[in-house]
Amino acid sequence: MTQRLTPTVWWNDGQVKYIDQTRLPCEHVIASCDTVELLWEAIRTLKIRGAPALGVAAALGVVLGIRSLEPATHKEVMNDVEGLATYLGSARPTAVNLFWALARMKKAVAGLATRTVDELKEALFQEAMLIIEEDRQTCRLIGRYGEGLIADGDSILTHCNAGRLATYDYGTALGVIYSAQEAGKKISVYADETRPLLQGGRLTAWELLNSGIDVTVICDNMAADLMARGKIAKVIVGADRIAANGDTANKIGTYGLAVLARFHAIPFYIAAPSSTFDLTLADGASIPVEQRDKKEVTEFGGACIAPESVAVYNPAFDVTPHTLISIFITDRGIIHPPFAENIKEKMASSG
Ligand code: MRU
Repeated sequence: MTQRLTPTVWWNDGQVKYIDQTRLPCEHVIASCDTVELLWEAIRTLKIRGAPALGVAAALGVVLGIRSLEPATHKEVMNDVEGLATYLGSARPTAVNLFWALARMKKAVAGLATRTVDELKEALFQEAMLIIEEDRQTCRLIGRYGEGLIADGDSILTHCNAGRLATYDYGTALGVIYSAQEAGKKISVYADETRPLLQGGRLTAWELLNSGIDVTVICDNMAADLMARGKIAKVIVGADRIAANGDTANKIGTYGLAVLARFHAIPFYIAAPSSTFDLTLADGASIPVEQRDKKEVTEFGGACIAPESVAVYNPAFDVTPHTLISIFITDRGIIHPPFAENIKEKMASSG
């Protein structure tokens, strides 16, 4: 049944509210944080997740944190914001949107030395609201640019969740699919379940069903078979960090899909906002990749599924080389190869 959807994470009466994504799809629970420590924990444990949503959460975390502190001067506000940014930035390392939003929050008050502390707190709040509004618009622009690439009847494979649950309210990769649906195109989606935490099976399937989109969940090891059978027209995924040359970090398993797509001559698209591009990194080798708890692999729903003492490799992300990516769909338009030149040019433009 269709569920009335709230945003993924938002501000309400002094608290940060969010859909607890660890409870989906079985339960739709709205949770709240009234301390920055609780928000940090919600990010760390993936109750709030997805690169753009992490940016929104981090900005709201600064607002939450500064309210509990008592800075008396502009300098003390700056010190507190710096401390909050360092703390929130330690929750998860890969999605650059989180650090981008924290940098925006610092910048929002850096030049306001003559303002009162209350005015500075208000400026931080307004910046967080602006980041939210920009996320709303950005995702819709990605959708609009991407929609033009989708043909009526396309069957699209996606990985993890780059939908409304990964952003404020619309999505990047799934935003393209929502836009195509709004344009009257009939799209079907295959959602990789996305081991180990099943963002595809739990979250992508849930939100697409909610939107009346034809979605089929597959285990991650079924994608090659579908491609070989000619069932996939395009692969569209999101991103957590894109280096200057186009190398792209996204959920573990994305790289494998890109290799498969190339082998089967299927277009492989990355949909991402400009805030996901990190032009300070020349290539993907220096993108920090989060390593997560081995229990995510050895346990499932509390049940043991591998020997407790076995060694586990559990990176949350992998890096897809730019040579396997067909195009980037961004809020500033489509970026074609050669990526190093075209990313630089597009990110220097205002849209
Ligand atoms: O570990 P997660 O669930 O935060 O990973 C999310 C992804 O990898 C998404 O594909 C990415 O953040 C893009 S979201 C628009």
